[in-house]
Amino acid sequence: MITDERTSTFIDSVSNPNTPYLEELEKKAHDGGIPVIRRATQSILKFILADLKPENILELGTATAFSAIFMATYGGNVHIDTIENYKKRIVEARQNIAQSGFEKAIRLIEGDAQSVIEELAAGAKSYDMIFIDAAKGQYISYLPVCKKLLRDGGILISDNVLFDGDIVLSRFAVRRRDRTIHARMREFLRAVSEDEELVTTILPVADGMTLSVKCR
Ligand SMILES: C[S@@+](CC[C@H](N)C(=O)[O-])C[C@H]1O[C@@H](n2cnc3c(N)ncnc32)[C@H](O)[C@@H]1O
Repeated sequence: MITDERTSTFIDSVSNPNTPYLEELEKKAHDGGIPVIRRATQSILKFILADLKPENILELGTATAFSAIFMATYGGNVHIDTIENYKKRIVEARQNIAQSGFEKAIRLIEGDAQSVIEELAAGAKSYDMIFIDAAKGQYISYLPVCKKLLRDGGILISDNVLFDGDIVLSRFAVRRRDRTIHARMREFLRAVSEDEELVTTILPVADGMTLSVKCR
C-alpha cells in the first residue's frame, strides 16, 4: 500500500459496498490467497466505466474473474475478453462467471497473454478499454501490442506498477530475485509515459496504476 493505511481504511469505510455477489467473491479470493484488484483500483475502474462507458474491454490476467465480473457488473453493456494461463484459476474463473450470470458478456481466453494478444491483433480486433493485470515483468512487452489493439481515444489501464512503493528504490536495494521485474517495470513506466501516441498519468493508489489515453 502506497497511501497511508489509515487514510485508505477511512476511504474504504465511506465507499459504497459492491453487490453481495462481488463481496462474496472478493472474500473467497482473499481467503484463498488469490490476488484481486484492491478497493482503490475498483473505485477508479468503476468511475471510468461510468464515465467512458467502454463497450469492448480486454483484460490481461483473469485470476478467478473477480475483476471481469466487477467490470461486467458496473459496465452496463460490455463485452469482456479476459486472458488467463493458470489452469487451476481458469476452472474457478469459469465457475464464478457461470454463477454471476455474465456468461454472455465475458469470454475467458486460455493461454499466455502475450501470444493471445498477438493473435487478437493479427485478427484486427479493437477495444475501447484494455486492463493489464498479468505478469508484471511482461508489461513492457504487452505495451506495443496493446496499443495496436486499442482504438483511438481508447483507455489503457495497468495495475500494480509501483510495487508497493519499491519502484523508487535503487536496483541494489531490491531483492535480487525481483531485480529483473523491477527494471522491466521501470522500463514500462518510461515507455508508457514517453509514448507520443499516449497521454499517461501514473497514480500512486493501491499498488500503483497507469491510465493512458490513445490520442492518435
Ligand atoms: C493480479 S492477478 C489478476 C487479478 C484479477 N484481474 C482480479 O482482480 O480478479 C494476475 C493473474 O495473471 C495471471 N498471469 C500471469 N502471467 C500470465 C501470462 N503470461 N498469461 C496469462 N495470465 C497470466 C496469473 O496467473 C494471475 O492469475
